[in-house]
Amino acid sequence: MTYTMSQRVRKFALTTHITVSVGWIGAVAAYLALDVTIVTSQDVQTLRATYLAMELIAWYVIVPLALASLLTGLVMALGTRWGLFRHYWVLISFLLTVLAVVVLLVETQTISQLANKATDPTTSSTELRALPSTLLHSGGGLVVLLMILVLNVYKPPGLTPYGWRKLQDQRTESRPSGRSN
Ligand code: HEM
Repeated sequence: MTYTMSQRVRKFALTTHITVSVGWIGAVAAYLALDVTIVTSQDVQTLRATYLAMELIAWYVIVPLALASLLTGLVMALGTRWGLFRHYWVLISFLLTVLAVVVLLVETQTISQLANKATDPTTSSTELRALPSTLLHSGGGLVVLLMILVLNVYKPPGLTPYGWRKLQDQRTESRPSGRSN
């Protein structure tokens, strides 16, 4: 099932994976600044503009980067000897990223509803100030993404039972010449 990429393709794929994944974290940090503005501001114009900006950042920056991170992560896992189910750090990164993407996709619906309400001219100032923020989601999301980042950079050792079996298979099958990356 695992196809091993050439060194050149691997470097390109890894560069793409790091760019979109760390970019995702940066975009969430920018979004967090908007959420903090929602919590701290009472100014009607600021609130309207902020909800609108949140919708644009969520749909056009965060969602594409999140999907690209998941996709390129899968390419890095399945296209190298890391595999998707062999090392706990890869498996946990995968599961946490899927969770983050699912929560994000549900949350974007809420964000659009908030932006629609905030930019609706019939919404009163009192109603606007009473609209909620998404601070808990963006803050929690950022923590999860940082955990995945640390896992991916440190790559803590630990093979899954499947990983152990694959290692045994490799040891018995390829004895004579050295392995290539
Ligand atoms: C928020 C999500 C993610 C972030 C921030 C992230 C970040 C990173 C970073 C910074 C590296 C480079 C580490 C290094 O080589 O020193 C990396 C490598 C890697 N990531 Fe991710 N990643 C994410 C999601 C995923 C997912 C979902 C998977 C698996 C499905 C994955 C699989 C891998 C693999 C296998 C490598 C090693 C590639 C190699 O050296 O050949 N990542 N990731």
